[in-house]
Amino acid sequence: MMEALEALHNRISVPRLTEPAPDEEALLNIYKSALRAADHGLLTPWRFLVIKGASLKKLGNLFVEASLSDDADMSPEKQEKIRRKPLRAPLIVVTISSSEQHPKIPVFEQELSAAAATQNMLMAAYSQEVGAMWRTGSMAYHPLVKKGLGLAIHEKIIGFLYLGTIAGPTRELMEAQVELFFKEW
Ligand SMILES: Cc1cc2nc3c(=O)[nH]c(=O)nc-3n(C[C@H](O)[C@H](O)[C@H](O)COP(=O)(O)O)c2cc1C
Repeated sequence: MMEALEALHNRISVPRLTEPAPDEEALLNIYKSALRAADHGLLTPWRFLVIKGASLKKLGNLFVEASLSDDADMSPEKQEKIRRKPLRAPLIVVTISSSEQHPKIPVFEQELSAAAATQNMLMAAYSQEVGAMWRTGSMAYHPLVKKGLGLAIHEKIIGFLYLGTIAGPTRELMEAQVELFFKEW
């Protein structure tokens, strides 16, 4: 297991993922990390769906159904490309922000917490040498996808976290440009 700072300074997304999916222990570490995200008022404004095996194909079918509802004339090739999207990893965790109106805590902050939970999962994956990539794309916002995944009206998809075994090299990281983004006020 790597040092926390080493992981924080070097985390990188892995677009090319393959079998096997992370094992139970690695997954549990990832899930527990999500649940330690900063959370104003401790509202736990999130829930997660774990999609693997045959359910990845179901998700691909749902993506095609949603895409066809926007463009019924879509070519079969395009449909197949969309259908294969969830097969880019052996396991996907969908982060859903499950926010409620609250007298003190804006919905935006609750959504930020769900995003922080997703980032925590990226970090937990990286620190265990599990490949991970946070994706959204138009499907994350499509009403038919949201319905098919069982989201309530007040819920949003924050991201599809693709998880798996690293397949191939990742890009070289540049030195962090701290002075560019941090200025004394
Ligand atoms: C909310 C969110 C949605 C994203 N959606 C996509 C996506 O759909 N496709 C994609 O290629 N990258 C997407 N990214 C970016 C990648 O996850 C990744 O951060 C980016 O490619 C930079 O790589 P790095 O994380 O290794 O620095 C998204 C990032 C965030 C925060």
